[in-house]
Amino acid sequence: MTTPDRTTVAIVGGGPAGLLLAHLLHRRGIDSVVLESRPRERVESRQRAGILEHGTVDALREVGADARMDEKGLPHDGFAFHVHGERVHVDMAELTGRAVMIWAQTEVVKDLIALRLEQGERLLFDTEVLAVEKVDGPLSRDGEALVRYRSDDGAEHELRADVVVGADGFHGVARRAVPDDAVRTYERVYPYSWLGILADAPPSSDELVYARHENGFALLSMRSPSVTRAYLQVPNGTDPSSWSDEEIWDELATRTALGDGSFTLNRGPITDKSVTPMRSFVAEPMRHGRLFLAGDAAHIVPPTGAKGLNLAVADVRVLASAIGAWRESGDESGLDAYSEVALRRVWRGEHFSWTMTTMLHRAPDADPFDEQLALSHLRLIAESTAYRTSIAENYRGVPLAGEH
Ligand code: PHB
Repeated sequence: MTTPDRTTVAIVGGGPAGLLLAHLLHRRGIDSVVLESRPRERVESRQRAGILEHGTVDALREVGADARMDEKGLPHDGFAFHVHGERVHVDMAELTGRAVMIWAQTEVVKDLIALRLEQGERLLFDTEVLAVEKVDGPLSRDGEALVRYRSDDGAEHELRADVVVGADGFHGVARRAVPDDAVRTYERVYPYSWLGILADAPPSSDELVYARHENGFALLSMRSPSVTRAYLQVPNGTDPSSWSDEEIWDELATRTALGDGSFTLNRGPITDKSVTPMRSFVAEPMRHGRLFLAGDAAHIVPPTGAKGLNLAVADVRVLASAIGAWRESGDESGLDAYSEVALRRVWRGEHFSWTMTTMLHRAPDADPFDEQLALSHLRLIAESTAYRTSIAENYRGVPLAGEH
């Protein structure tokens, strides 16, 4: 492939946000180049959450990345809380008329990559972006923005673009192109992490189980009818290998048990163990001149509400139609509104994720007052249909403007 030196949209980052954006733009006839620093195998093996909101499912359908999802994804109508041994069921489909889909981010990314390569569109792996430059200033069609990168053979290149989209994650280079005095950041680091496992064990229940126990949080999720994905709250800095398989299963069983003995955990060989810290982060605005930030490059949520991927997808859906309107008719209003529109949803996601996180975990420094507040919150969910509906609406995701 010859190295292009000009495109309409330079997309820094080939994760789900960058890849989906490239597809949405392609459908509108807009040219883009996706630059990804990691090799393809790494991108395709990264374990992340796996709950897709209805709008995320729609976006994958729109770009034609739905065949394997429909075949192998698991539609879920609800989920359960296990609170100190008591079960509270949230029937999302009944309360909101919508379901979610269990389909892992890793699988989404594999389909988006395969489709992009099939189309012969540009997606460069092992490509380190060195700098994003010349993004100050108004929109124009003169390719004034510049991305400097090093390709997999070590050679340095320049790519000129009309706009640059930073979809390169929390540690990416794109956000650094915004001067410090032009961005405001908000941050919260939580005093606990998640030990996550993948296991060859059938899911213990048809739906996800979010447990609060005096030992801390646990989550039972799944990847397929034969693979369990599960998480335990652990102290920050925990080494995953310090937990034996048996200790993990015993602790999952303890934290998810129901008082009436009606819940049994399925066990099996653990094939993957990792520890993830928990953080909330927002950078605003999500635009600086010709640079637009999307997904984790602009905002991070703790994984408890499974919102990370869904927020990233919502960002690029808004961005794709705004870029489309600008290219088709010169109308810049969508791009001018992008940051504000995206941030409204982002803050809803931040609040929901924080709520789920603080309600279900036990902070090491929590006092009995904090404990009673969390329990009262969970009791409210159990007893009030209005409150349960609110949780269900947030979980299944708020439609984009114009959707139902
Ligand atoms: C997952 O399956 O990895 C998962 C599910 C739900 C969450 C977080 C992670 O809230």
